Amino acid sequence: MTAPAVPEELAQRASRRVLVLNGPNLGRLGRRQPEIYGFTTYDELAEHCVGWGRDLGLEVSCRQTNHEGEMLDWLNEAADSEFPVVLNAAAWTHYSWAVFDACAQLVAPLVEVHISDPQQRPEEFRHTSVVTPYAAAVIAGYGIDGYRMALEHLARA
Ligand code: DQA
Repeated sequence: MTAPAVPEELAQRASRRVLVLNGPNLGRLGRRQPEIYGFTTYDELAEHCVGWGRDLGLEVSCRQTNHEGEMLDWLNEAADSEFPVVLNAAAWTHYSWAVFDACAQLVAPLVEVHISDPQQRPEEFRHTSVVTPYAAAVIAGYGIDGYRMALEHLARA
């Protein structure tokens, strides 16, 4: 997906909160299988997301957890507060019915992001996503740039 330039007026809109939520093992970005996930660290990713958001008039809170319950709490917070969400649920994407149920109650748009493209990877289990049924868009295989594309999508929503 190639994202067109974002019009100036969108960038100047009042700030809107967006949660960028990252699941298990993504805290190890830069060290974890860099041939698949690249060399950008999680801290650098979080910094990029905040900066990209700022340019789009979005106030980004970027979080990562290895604990499913914490992710569910954040998704519940997004539902209650009607925050849009960028979600890379990592391995939970492929089997967590709890994440599926939490996504079902979101009110504002949800964009699913993956750094790699799970559909193109050899492991069969990666070809299923519990997030996709509730996603306004799925952006996969564009590296960390996918997060920028997801934020641009939400800025337009
Ligand atoms: C991932 C893809 C998942 O299959 C994997 O379990 C991850 C990362 C990605 O961003 O490419 O941990 O979500």
